[in-house]
Amino acid sequence: MVTNPFQQIASLRDRIRHHEERYYVYDDPEISDVEFDALMRELRALEKQHPDLVTPVSPTQRVSGRSTAAFESVAHAEPMLSLDNAYTEGELREFGQRVRDALEPESAPSYIAELKIDGLGIALTYEGGQLLRGVTRGDGVQGEDVTANVRAIRAIPLQLSHAPRGTVEVRGEIYLPRTSFERVNEEILSKNEDIRRTNEDIERKNVALNREGKTPISTKALKPLVANPRNAAAGAMRRKEPALVAKRGLRAWMYQIVADTAMLVKDGQVSQLEKLRAWALPVERHWKHCEDIDAVLAFCRTWESRRSSLEFDIDGVVVKVRAEEQRLRLGSTNKFPHWAIAFKFRAEQVTTRLKAIALQVGRTGAVTPYAVMEPVLLAGSTISRATLHNAEEVIRKDIRAGDVVLVEKGGDVIPKIVKAITSQRDTGPNGPRPFVMPTSCPECASRLVRPEGEVVWRCANVACPAQVRRALTHFASRRAMNIEGLGEKVVDALVSEGVVKNVDDLYELDMSTLPSVQLSWSSKGNPIRIGEIRSKKILAEIARSRNNELWRFVFGLGIRHVGEGAARVLSTTFGSLERLRSASLGELESVPDIGPVVAASVRDYFGQPETLALLEAFRSAGVDPSQALETPQSSRRPLTLGERSFVLTGTLATLSRSEARRAIEERGGRVLSSVSKRASYVVVGDNAGTKANKAKELGIEVLTEEALLELLEQ
Ligand code: IVH
Repeated sequence: MVTNPFQQIASLRDRIRHHEERYYVYDDPEISDVEFDALMRELRALEKQHPDLVTPVSPTQRVSGRSTAAFESVAHAEPMLSLDNAYTEGELREFGQRVRDALEPESAPSYIAELKIDGLGIALTYEGGQLLRGVTRGDGVQGEDVTANVRAIRAIPLQLSHAPRGTVEVRGEIYLPRTSFERVNEEILSKNEDIRRTNEDIERKNVALNREGKTPISTKALKPLVANPRNAAAGAMRRKEPALVAKRGLRAWMYQIVADTAMLVKDGQVSQLEKLRAWALPVERHWKHCEDIDAVLAFCRTWESRRSSLEFDIDGVVVKVRAEEQRLRLGSTNKFPHWAIAFKFRAEQVTTRLKAIALQVGRTGAVTPYAVMEPVLLAGSTISRATLHNAEEVIRKDIRAGDVVLVEKGGDVIPKIVKAITSQRDTGPNGPRPFVMPTSCPECASRLVRPEGEVVWRCANVACPAQVRRALTHFASRRAMNIEGLGEKVVDALVSEGVVKNVDDLYELDMSTLPSVQLSWSSKGNPIRIGEIRSKKILAEIARSRNNELWRFVFGLGIRHVGEGAARVLSTTFGSLERLRSASLGELESVPDIGPVVAASVRDYFGQPETLALLEAFRSAGVDPSQALETPQSSRRPLTLGERSFVLTGTLATLSRSEARRAIEERGGRVLSSVSKRASYVVVGDNAGTKANKAKELGIEVLTEEALLELLEQ
């Protein structure tokens, strides 16, 4: 018999937790919503009488009264990898073959097929069974701390059952059920209906005002509808209002345990899923153990046709090797595991009007057509551009500016044009004309050439500003030479003022040329130049890059088909630029992980006289990439900003937002998204809004961009 308030409260909490679990984990409630609400009310009343008995894991404490401050950036203990994709049966079979080839013949793999939830990746940390933190996937390496919002999601337990000891991290997906999504749009529609009525009233008044020669009242904007559940979920999670998250009705499915080794689940995915569920975490229940790829394929086909019967959106099936021990042997790249793949369902397609076929010039001078279309909604986002690959394909498919075209988005970001709907083409004299590839570069007007047997037209002018711009941006980029301060804005300015005509000209820059380069115009119409402080910093970075690791330089050269991974392999194998330059095709091909296409491209690149001239120019400029592999410290800068926090507001003249953030974070500082007492500085650019005022109110130091640059310099 329950006697004292402590026991009464504890027992109520247990019952509430039990019913939450029945509802969210087992999808099998034992009581009605009304009865559940009554339990919650009872608990709230008791806690009100005994505030000292309130604990953070009480179900009444999901939404704290205050709104959250900024989302802090948090590094994931282990990167949150992405998944490689398979779009066809063939690609899925190839995955199966790769897995089998990599394992010994006697250890045949079996698979777990899970639904691929179209939501937002999330990592939850529990300590002693209590929810400690929720972090978004972010870029996989760093995410945002969204704990307050995560706590407001009732499907996520604040307290685990059968709590594992110590710290455990679980990962999964936050999503919005379709019905909740529809409710969101209905709310918008009904709000819009109110707005529409108000607007009609205003219009009527405006007619009168107009007659009297008075200023009309402006009408209110209608809210756009949300495109899909995923965007609605993302929108809610970005808000700093846990109460709103609670109201939206977000849910979660968890599918992975990332624990310290002691916790590692030895016998694979099935027991991970079982364990998650035993801890009272929600696990999507349609997963299936498949003995081979045929069974996986059958699962994929079933769910492709049944996806609309689910209460949430899925965009494919995730196929995972079941056994942990096999997974360890298969390993991962830095992007995705070799032991899993996402089978993506067929692309969604729409039609729209092709307004124009435009051209872009790539880093290697390839001039490729792309489509400029009437904006159209496709698989959740509005698109207005699509790739057209090459001129030959445009002609072969007979796609013409002015046509109605069928566009699809194949799982990934870049949409493509499938075909022109010729039955809808105006065949009259003013109708669309066949595409003719221009003969000169849209940037520098040089003649375009097409080497024998190739489909791509190229601008043969190595000094073409478009090429130099792209090559330089790539060379300086973080993953290549990592020259801080040489972002797109600066590179654009350097190339368009003609200060840099070739990548190696970078190393000729000095204090007599750099400071006066103009980046943009201020809002008052004055030129904004790079300036002394920033120039010094850039020059120091350029100087530092002379002795970068070899692989950074090799990747930075932008050799076709040579990504970061290949650049690393080539650099370790050959050890010096000289040896790599003179490596024969055979030597290149014999390098593990270097395929024939990469090998040929490298050989070809180093065989060109322009390359040799470029390398010579680099050499005489003192660029001496060493074979030294990256040491953990070598690419890092000293953490001079300690724990200081910055808020950025307004447009900075010389740094883009992401460059500024990166510069601060690389020095150990943090960037907050809103002004609070925790901010050490507010950096104010052009057209800064309320944040600048708020900083003054709170007495937080306000920095100009110049002052920020100075601080970064220290
Ligand atoms: S496993 C290393 N399982 O899909 C394992 N991911 O396209 C990586 N996703 O980033 C994830 N449902 O956010 C896994 N059943 C599922 C999933 C799933 C959805 C998401 C996840 C991942 C993305 C990759």
